Amino acid sequence: MRVLDREANAFLYQQVIDFVEQQYQQGLLKAGDKLPSLRKLSQQFGISVPTVKQAYIELERRGQVQARPQSGYYVKATTAKTLLPMRNKWAGANPVEVNCRSLIEQVYDAIHIPDTVALGISNPIKVQAPDKTLARLMRKVLSQVSDKAVSYGPVNGDQKLRMQLAYRYQEQGVQVNFEDIVITCGAQEAISIALQCVAQKGDVIAIESPCYFGITELIETLGMKAVEIYTCPEQGICLEELEQSIAEHNIQACVFSTAINNPLGSKMPDEKRAKLVELIERYQVPLIEDDVYGELYFSGEKPKPAQLFSTEGLVMTCSSFSKTAAPGYRVGYLLPGKYEEEAKRIKRAQSCSTAMLPQWTLTEYVLSGDYDRHLLTLRKKLMYNCERMRCAIAQYFPKDVCISQPQGGSVLWVRCSSKVNTSDFFQQAIDAGVSFAPGVIFSPSGKYHNYMRISFGVEWDNKVEQAIKTLGEIIHQHYQKYQLIYED
Ligand SMILES: Cc1ncc(COP(=O)(O)O)c(C=O)c1O
Repeated sequence: MRVLDREANAFLYQQVIDFVEQQYQQGLLKAGDKLPSLRKLSQQFGISVPTVKQAYIELERRGQVQARPQSGYYVKATTAKTLLPMRNKWAGANPVEVNCRSLIEQVYDAIHIPDTVALGISNPIKVQAPDKTLARLMRKVLSQVSDKAVSYGPVNGDQKLRMQLAYRYQEQGVQVNFEDIVITCGAQEAISIALQCVAQKGDVIAIESPCYFGITELIETLGMKAVEIYTCPEQGICLEELEQSIAEHNIQACVFSTAINNPLGSKMPDEKRAKLVELIERYQVPLIEDDVYGELYFSGEKPKPAQLFSTEGLVMTCSSFSKTAAPGYRVGYLLPGKYEEEAKRIKRAQSCSTAMLPQWTLTEYVLSGDYDRHLLTLRKKLMYNCERMRCAIAQYFPKDVCISQPQGGSVLWVRCSSKVNTSDFFQQAIDAGVSFAPGVIFSPSGKYHNYMRISFGVEWDNKVEQAIKTLGEIIHQHYQKYQLIYED
């Protein structure tokens, strides 16, 4: 047992702090690691739990560790400069026609280039893919229903799966009937159906800024216009800005990642989400909530869906198993609020029904309890990767670079000097074996040219660290090219 020096001038809690710092300096504790539990360390040192707690609280106050409710204390990437809200620099936005197709195409293509570390696409299950369990369940399902698997399924999808989904939402207090839910081909189809329920060509849709490029591309494809609403890296969508925008523009619908934003990783507090619903229902503007990252929160409880706060059926919830289990299965779902009939009609017209075999497999997965166990480990691994990636970026990128501190999800939003355009070195990075998502594709009006999105949804190894180093070297070259002086 290690013993603290009770005769020393330093308080016992200070000696605990010194111990933790020493472990960090010696590389025995790394960014993302969990500190020993309060009880374990108190036993190890033969001191009281409150003394260890005092040390951990002080480390948290200094920004060296992060407390995660019901989980413990974790080492933070202290060298990383955190991206802060910059509301005052935001210029109010006008609706724009969306056009950012070609770069988006290149980002998608880059996933399939051999020997490239793909950090441009958010694919959290790479951290821990449940592929073997799902393959086993699929074989079992297929042996029971091989004849039905080749037939058309019901328009709104498998009843057992809908019942499981309804049950999960009911556990959070949402009053949803399984008969209302529509199973879709991924969340993307759910959002597309929801948009078509409430808006048409030429209509203005409010989106977050920055916003996941799949949504802007969808808005473009449907011939609609987007108006960007400032979204804070810590608290999500700015409600004052939204209210002003509703007053100025004829907004037909909002599409917001109300739980966890992609690319910011911000988690809107539940109270704020309730206020958002109150606001949109007051102005009678439908809200399409994109909840794909809802399960991938890092601390506290699962964010409550906006659907929970809706009293008029104006909220439509879209989600999927893509970020948690199997993006390739293309199983998503829509809780259509009061637009149920419309949603089913559009689903029928658009794709008839969703493939049944993946739905049955996922039903078995959820029912077995394995899905929830998998989610627990997935969240832990993502949290760990997040801090490791922040630390690596802080080490290899220019020192003025700011990095988001996500509260969930699987991506980092990184800001370089305003003189740099990250699209300029996108191809160079791919040639060097690493891909990322350039900032401009996250805004239909071309904001964020100096930002980039980097995914930490990867299996962490030396190859990933080397890829970040390579990316850092490329960015350094670009800083030199423009003879930049580091901005502090
Ligand atoms: C924020 C967000 N919404 C929707 C989607 C689409 O999800 P799916 O693959 O289920 O269609 C993605 C996928 O990257 C996403 O990041």
